[in-house]
Amino acid sequence: MNILLIGSGGREHALAWKLAQSPLCDTLYAAPGNPGIAEEAELVDLAIADHAAVVAFCAGHDIGLVVIGPEGPLVDGLADVLRSAGIPVFGPSAAAAQLEGSKGFTKDLCTRARIPTAAYARHDDKDAALADLPRFGLPVVIKADGLAAGKGVIIAETGEEAKAAIEDMFSGGFGAAGAEVVIEEFMTGEEASFFALTDGTSIVAFGSAQDHKRVGDGDVGPNTGGMGAYSPARVLTPALEARVMAEIIEPTVAAMAAAGTPYNGVLYAGLMLTADGPRLIEYNCRFGDPECQVLMMRFAGDLAELLLAIARGQLAAAEPPVFTDDVALTVVMAARGYPGTPEKGARITIGDTGAVKVFHAGTALRDGQLIASGGRVLNVTATAPSVTGARAAAYAVVDAIDFPTGFCRRDIGWREEAREQQG
Ligand code: AMP
Ligand code: GLY
Repeated sequence: MNILLIGSGGREHALAWKLAQSPLCDTLYAAPGNPGIAEEAELVDLAIADHAAVVAFCAGHDIGLVVIGPEGPLVDGLADVLRSAGIPVFGPSAAAAQLEGSKGFTKDLCTRARIPTAAYARHDDKDAALADLPRFGLPVVIKADGLAAGKGVIIAETGEEAKAAIEDMFSGGFGAAGAEVVIEEFMTGEEASFFALTDGTSIVAFGSAQDHKRVGDGDVGPNTGGMGAYSPARVLTPALEARVMAEIIEPTVAAMAAAGTPYNGVLYAGLMLTADGPRLIEYNCRFGDPECQVLMMRFAGDLAELLLAIARGQLAAAEPPVFTDDVALTVVMAARGYPGTPEKGARITIGDTGAVKVFHAGTALRDGQLIASGGRVLNVTATAPSVTGARAAAYAVVDAIDFPTGFCRRDIGWREEAREQQG
């Protein structure tokens, strides 16, 4: 079977690496890919937004499975067009991808399906939003409804900040994403990510992870797409995972099916582990980046077989996913300036990394030389029986990589290591 993978980040490099290992995979194509993905796949120059061109490529190259990595093409309906053309695809329809594409949509679904989440209000009128603010207390969370590349969430500590956030959103500060805002009650607790795969009917758990969103050591500084991650997140005990499945994931999948928009793909639940139990912060309709990298390092099964079963609606008959007991940990090496404007063009030499995998996130080749071409550049990913071991292995490779204008956090995994040391 030939497979087409859509995307170009570290998440897609990890998916490519795992898909290429499958005995079912003949030729793996990736569009647009990156130099790391090129080690696993044949790169294709395809305009992803041109859905007809993607369908034509699939027809011309006997593609038996399309795997869509990022949320953009999903919200844009690429999976719908492929499915209509009879091409098996892993990834939700545009209607189902609204779980990520519209925060208000997800909150309303939580209300209908009685899924635990923060209290909220949706507003498409600025004055009504401002008038509604006081009842939420402080801090309060203000969100642009639509996709905002991870930047559409403001945690306001004062009434002034909340007001400013609402005014900014309604005056176009977040583009079309801010035409509607969601005001939310502030929840406290530890955050964790949980992943589930579903074909719309059957559901399997697909592991947990925690990431580090702030740019600086000690969780300070601006938010990023994620500076590192590890899996599993031991704070999500088997008992808590069972609650997440029963109270959050299963009702969501059932509600999507009942609405006539069954969800096919990975559901990535961002959770707050509150004193009252796990509550949903938000859904993503794709794997996390860099969470996917650590999941793929631990996944011991045949990824192509599993994703194909889901694409065909046959998850119930598939082998349940198996993960190694090892801990996987990834350190993001970013380009100076990130998450603001990253410096591009710096030369990078990786060298021999042994069993540690270096996934490419934002790299390019210039005259045969690897260079930085994005904010997050490399994901140095190690596995070991302990967090301490995985962390040491990852940082040893980070320190050996020649990327003078790159930087990383030095404390990835600190929470989990502290837990491990406490036994
Ligand atoms: P998101 O971009 O939706 O993942 O939100 C970014 C971050 O904002 C989350 O990872 C949480 O740390 C925080 N956040 C979002 N909603 C809430 C909430 N209702 N209460 C507390 N923190 C929140
Ligand atoms: N690492 C966070 C995300 O993928 O949304």
